[in-house]
Amino acid sequence: MIIPGMASDSQVYLNGEFMQIGEAKISVLDRGFIFGDGIYEVVPVYNGKPFRIAHHLDRLDRSLAAIRIANPHDRAGWLALIGQLIERSPSPICMVYLQVTRGVAKRDHGFPKEPIAPTVFGMVNAMVPPGKAQREQGLSVISLPDERWLHCEIKSVSLLGNVLAKQAATDAGVDDVVMFRDGYLSEGSSSNVWVVIGGKLLAPPKNNLILEGIRYGLMGELAEQIGLPFEARKLSKQEVLAADEIMVTSATKEVLPVVRIDGRPVGSGKPGPVYARLRERYDALIASL
Ligand code: PDD
Repeated sequence: MIIPGMASDSQVYLNGEFMQIGEAKISVLDRGFIFGDGIYEVVPVYNGKPFRIAHHLDRLDRSLAAIRIANPHDRAGWLALIGQLIERSPSPICMVYLQVTRGVAKRDHGFPKEPIAPTVFGMVNAMVPPGKAQREQGLSVISLPDERWLHCEIKSVSLLGNVLAKQAATDAGVDDVVMFRDGYLSEGSSSNVWVVIGGKLLAPPKNNLILEGIRYGLMGELAEQIGLPFEARKLSKQEVLAADEIMVTSATKEVLPVVRIDGRPVGSGKPGPVYARLRERYDALIASL
């Protein structure tokens, strides 16, 4: 089976076995397929080492607990699986994708009455961290109302709202969106959003309206290291549009500056000085792995 964009010899993990991606099959009754009833993680790997793995596995635990799926592996089990995926990586810089769904059962919205085995899937793909051009040119975004559900803190595979938001950006010829719920900043289609106002780093509070990115905690730590004041609070659209700097963070984007929003420049229209300092710290941390 040919899968666009995937090398046919890519090895994936499915329910206890490694196999070529084209051989990996799940039932049409898998509740992940039928209902989006599952969760996932994306772990960046540098120099063959998973970055902030304990944080990712803690979030995996939280997501599973939130949707009441018993964690199929203990910490050592996940670490072993991730290690085996990394061994199969085409590159020492890669991303490990993990997904757990509730499993296979007759279609019924309620949880199956009898216990069923969850479906556990893992894959590893080469990751190309943002290059010089992206770092120097920054991203253009549009603002969009956040039309997703009210449990964005769960890293759910039900991502239709995120998918449609990202496609709206593509259709508008920009890189991504920055979403606002009831006029207040939430996040990007697959990233957390940061703003700098008057020398202070700001982000929306951690609650059910955003995914707590693993880089959310990390940015707080980096800000402290460089003596940059940081506050988590509600941020109105007006404040965001007038901010000195805007940034996004995610496993694959790392930290990137946003230089245009809704066709207007952010601050000077160039990546700002706070971004530069945080980016320097992020790079140093990765280089030390
Ligand atoms: N997405 N918010 C959303 C909605 C996300 O999907 C992501 C990451 C983040 C940032 O989280 P982290 O710093 O842990 O990557 C915030 C991943 C990369 C994805 O879905 O591919």
